[in-house]
Amino acid sequence: MYNNCIVILYDNIITVLKGMNIMKKIRWGILGTGSIATIFAKALKSMEDCTLAAVASRNDIRAKEFADKFEIAKSYGDYKKLAEDPDIDVVYVAVPHTEHKKMARLCMRNKKAVLCEKPFTINSRDTEEIINMAKEHKVFLMEAMWSKFLPANLRVKEWIKEGKIGKVLHIKASFGFRLEYDPTHRLYNPSLGGGALLDVGVYPISYTTFLLDKAPDKIISSALIGASNVDEQNVIVFQYNDSLFANLSSAIAAEIGDDALIVGDKGIIRVNKFWMANSAKLYDNNNKCIEEYKEPFKANGYEYEAAEVNRCLREGLLESPLNPLQDTLSNMKLMDEIRSSWGLVYPQEYEDN
Ligand SMILES: NC(=O)c1ccc[n+]([C@@H]2O[C@H](COP(=O)([O-])OP(=O)(O)OC[C@H]3O[C@@H](n4cnc5c(N)ncnc54)[C@H](OP(=O)(O)O)[C@@H]3O)[C@@H](O)[C@H]2O)c1
Repeated sequence: MYNNCIVILYDNIITVLKGMNIMKKIRWGILGTGSIATIFAKALKSMEDCTLAAVASRNDIRAKEFADKFEIAKSYGDYKKLAEDPDIDVVYVAVPHTEHKKMARLCMRNKKAVLCEKPFTINSRDTEEIINMAKEHKVFLMEAMWSKFLPANLRVKEWIKEGKIGKVLHIKASFGFRLEYDPTHRLYNPSLGGGALLDVGVYPISYTTFLLDKAPDKIISSALIGASNVDEQNVIVFQYNDSLFANLSSAIAAEIGDDALIVGDKGIIRVNKFWMANSAKLYDNNNKCIEEYKEPFKANGYEYEAAEVNRCLREGLLESPLNPLQDTLSNMKLMDEIRSSWGLVYPQEYEDN
């Protein structure tokens, strides 16, 4: 009798917690089976408060192979079917940039929350369109700018806010690698939104606006546009009126590294591989290291943005306070301005006009 009462009480508590969404495992679906889908799947599989419930590909076999690899219960050879699955809470959009808007719209139409890869879309007009759609359908939407959720980068931002390096004078951040020219690869293919700016340049740009919490007052930039008509290298200077420069560069055709340096009048912060940082060092003006942050990732680093999405969904938030849609839109506008100064237009943008 006593035992039965305990069991009933326990069941009631679980039901109440489930009703309050506290115990509910967030059910993820992934659109795409490429390189980042694979990495993100590993992160989701390491987490306890969510399940990777479905994957979709344009092709049945690829979807099934991906599902088998990650022990995912459902696989679809059609993105639409996953978007329509009533047992999915949130969809991770991991397809080429040019498909982001279409996929985000498909998911939101079906009342799914969306975590959409960077760059959010190919231009700010498309970004504005999907933000408006999220508001209209009252669904959660976020850009998968994972670097903003990494504990090392949050610590860097805290150091700046606490005045550890004094007044910020200069930021230097680059992200670039050399991929042999191949006009069919998405990075060299304008029809898939190729080029350095949208793929990797988005990182130094969002890192700078994330650390400073503001957009620049003036932008100077230049790009080397290659044979396939995408930017293979670029350099960008952000000027802030209060005498601060950000010197940013990105490349898909030159190994230019991926470190960041934040220089203040009282010290310097160095972040190796800032876009995937798990460490950062704070130096005084005598180049003496006075503090170091170092912490291995729990999985591969993508679990932090996924955890933020899970948290937001449980709390009924429609956007993340750590990565607001307004910041994504503002960064997209900066990239539009930069691209427009180079005369780089994507085929989809001609078609839209
Ligand atoms: N956050 C990060 O660290 C990070 C890293 C890499 C990439 N990304 C972003 O993630 C997105 C995907 O990049 P990725 O490197 O994973 O690319 P990828 O390896 O080429 O994979 C893209 C996947 O998208 C699907 N897809 C749908 N429409 C497609 C089309 N028209 N052409 C080609 N593939 C199409 C394909 O899956 P199916 O054939 O199975 O349908 C393909 O496997 C990009 O927007 C990129 O910027 C983010």
